[in-house]
Amino acid sequence: MAKPQAPTEPPSFGPQHGPLVRALRPASLSALARTARLDPRRFRRNVEIAREVRRRHAIQKVTELAPALAFFRRRPLRTVVEIGTFLGGTLWGWCQIAEPDAVLVSIDLPGAMLNLPSEPIEELARLARERQQLHCLRSDSHDPATVEELRRLLGERQIDLLMIDGDHSFEGVKADFELYSPLVAPGGFVAFHDILTHQDRRAEVDRFWREVRARYPHVEFTDPGDDWGFGVWGGIGVLELLARPRRESG
Ligand SMILES: C[S@@+](CC[C@H](N)C(=O)[O-])C[C@H]1O[C@@H](n2cnc3c(N)ncnc32)[C@H](O)[C@@H]1O
Repeated sequence: MAKPQAPTEPPSFGPQHGPLVRALRPASLSALARTARLDPRRFRRNVEIAREVRRRHAIQKVTELAPALAFFRRRPLRTVVEIGTFLGGTLWGWCQIAEPDAVLVSIDLPGAMLNLPSEPIEELARLARERQQLHCLRSDSHDPATVEELRRLLGERQIDLLMIDGDHSFEGVKADFELYSPLVAPGGFVAFHDILTHQDRRAEVDRFWREVRARYPHVEFTDPGDDWGFGVWGGIGVLELLARPRRESG
């Protein structure tokens, strides 16, 4: 995959990009500058991928996911780990934006595909493109054995994109971050889904997000207006992991 070009001028977006541009709520100025330099033609491809992800039953908003995909593509994604795969909608999307020889790992609980009689792991494995390797671990992400198994699969590799969309409790999302972020490459991304303050208070990602975002450059892709009748939900927050986190005051 070609590395996204950084044009000297910010691109002019057509009216069709309006909702997506409004969805960009970068919380750090440096991230804003980089995010704004999206090539509109490449951006369209991200919108197509995001729509297909939705069609594959992902619980995602196109207005949030499309700009997030464009943002992730600033870095060649050789190693991608997703915690929380459900029916594989977003996993399909990561396969599209990852390198042709990337390693991808999906972690979910056994029986995550609730409405199906048996777990079609083979179906998920077929989402891999070209020379990609896709591994599906079906175990609790908080179990140390799962972390060990992931380490074994990755070997020397470090994670370029870690997507956390599993246990949405405060302690659950915190544990996922603490267990898996040490495996992320310097400059790699850790993304969280559901950073908005949900009406359903079982989703507590927003609390952890507010705490962790103070320590890293970060960007938010949120469209609170699109509520599907659920009330406020969703929102993608992305940390860019530097060699060392900055101090709390940031
Ligand atoms: C919201 S769904 C993921 C949706 C998926 N990312 C998408 O957008 O298509 C959350 C998933 O997290 C999984 N999950 C919840 N707690 C988990 C845990 N402790 N370990 C692994 N997976 C977990 C659930 O089984 C469920 O499939």
